[in-house]
Parts: sequence; structure tokens; C-alpha cells
Amino acid sequence: MIEVKNISKTFKLSKKQRTLDGTKNKFKIAVENITFKAKPGEIYGLLGPNGAGKTTVLRCIATLIKPDKGSIIVDGSSVLEDSREVRSKLCLLTNELKVDPNFTAEYLFGFFGRLYGMNDSEILKRKKILFEEFGIDEFADVKTSDMSSGMKQKLSIAISLVHDPKVIIFDEPTNGLDVITARAVTDYLKKLRGEGKTVIISTHIMTVAEKLCDRIGLIIEGGIAAEGTLNELLEKTGAADLDDAFFSIYKKTRENVS
Ligand SMILES: Nc1ncnc2c1ncn2[C@@H]1O[C@H](COP(=O)(O)OP(=O)(O)O)[C@@H](O)[C@H]1O
Ligand SMILES: [Mg+2]
Repeated sequence: MIEVKNISKTFKLSKKQRTLDGTKNKFKIAVENITFKAKPGEIYGLLGPNGAGKTTVLRCIATLIKPDKGSIIVDGSSVLEDSREVRSKLCLLTNELKVDPNFTAEYLFGFFGRLYGMNDSEILKRKKILFEEFGIDEFADVKTSDMSSGMKQKLSIAISLVHDPKVIIFDEPTNGLDVITARAVTDYLKKLRGEGKTVIISTHIMTVAEKLCDRIGLIIEGGIAAEGTLNELLEKTGAADLDDAFFSIYKKTRENVS
């Protein structure tokens, strides 16, 4: 279970960032007063355009950055007070994750397992399951620099799941993946849901949210503008599909702002 309560996060912009963004503002409110829950056995999706604040929320949950306000509880542990405990219970995956090119799958998997304090037999058990799941077995002794990008992505997923976390956080799970790897990833997320894990993803792709997520939080300009199952969102807006529902809510949110 992930319980996010009233979190806000403002970034101070460096001079360089201000120039790049073409703004004079010294601060950027990335996330403002966001509250939601993701439960075991469900895939919760944060759906929103680029810059909406999705990655910031996920990074707060994963203890990489601290929210300025609010609280986050992961499986009973507070992100602010028990960050070590929280880190042992979750994994954060992004497609920017890079595997070191100089090492083999076998070596890296063991290395990260030991980082989590696992012993050899625990590592072996997890390796058997995950390497088989992602078809890594025959590449176990290949340096990652000689692997295809799809295989590298699958390896980084396997590695991040080494400690069998209860909570799986995946930032834009299918971005940049070929269709076959993308399918392997979404199928596996469904399998994790079936095992009772709490899965939370971010996406800007409507069909990913539609097909994969049990509940969806529409995130627009740092706030959750609407939340519910696909059917609830369609009912709420009278729209025929998620795309239309999103734009109906997007328009309303913008009207309220101006
Ligand atoms: N470290 C940072 N410093 C300054 N601004 C940031 C930082 N991280 C994110 N932002 C800004 O916060 C907003 C939300 O970003 P992000 O959470 O990455 O959005 P998303 O993942 O939905 O695309 C964006 O305007 C982004 O430029
Ligand atoms: Mg992002």
C-alpha cells in the first residue's frame, strides 16, 4: 500500500534552468497538494502530459527527493522518517536506468543482491525466477555492452526486482521500448499485480493507462484533476474513451485556472 497525502514540491531553478526554460521565475511548483492511495494487487497509473509532475511524485515516493509538505507511507513505513525501511520494500524503475557496460548480467545481478544484504542462496533463487522470466539465461555471461537495448532493459528490470519488493514503481514503463519488450514489461507488471504487489506507474500514453491500470489519477499541472477506474472516468465525463475524458477534464482544469 502506498498512501500519498497532500504532498507538494517546489524546485528552485538554477540560472541555467531558467535560461533553458525561458523563464524569469526562480521557482517551479512541480507538485501541489497531491493525495492518492495505491493498493496491493492493483496497478495505479499517474497519467498526464510531459511536465505534469509525474516523475516528481514517483521520486518522492522512492525517497530520492523529499516533498516540501505532506506525508507518504509505503507499506506502513514513513518515507520521511524510515527512508531505509522504505527503500528495502520498493523498487523504482525508469527507462533512463543504465546498466554498467563492463559487467555481465550474472555479475551485476549478484552485486545488487549483495547490496540489499541478500545471501548467495537467496540471490540464486531470485536469479532463477527473473532470468527465466525475462529470457536472460542465455545472456547471463555476456557483457551488457554486447546486449541489445531490449535485453539491457529487461536486465535492468530483473536487477531492480532482485530483493522481491512489495511495491513496484515504474516511471513511463514502455517508453523507448520496442513492441515486444514493451509487451514483456506490461505482462510482467500484470503478473506482479496478480501476486498482490502494489504497482504504480506513470505514463503520458492513454492506451497504456487504459489497458494496464486498475485506477488512474489524471495529473495536470502538478495536481490530480480526476481519479478513478477507466469506467468511472468515462462516466464522470460522458466521454467515449480515455483520450476524450482526459481532454474534457484538461479543458475544465484550465478554465478554472484562468
Ligand atoms: N530537479 C528539478 N529542478 C527544476 N525543475 C524541475 C526538476 N525536476 C522537475 N522539474 C520541473 O517540474 C515539473 C514537473 O516535472 P516532472 O515531474 O519531471 O514531470 P513529468 O514526469 O510529468 O513529465 C516540470 O516543469 C519540470 O521541468
Ligand atoms: Mg517524467
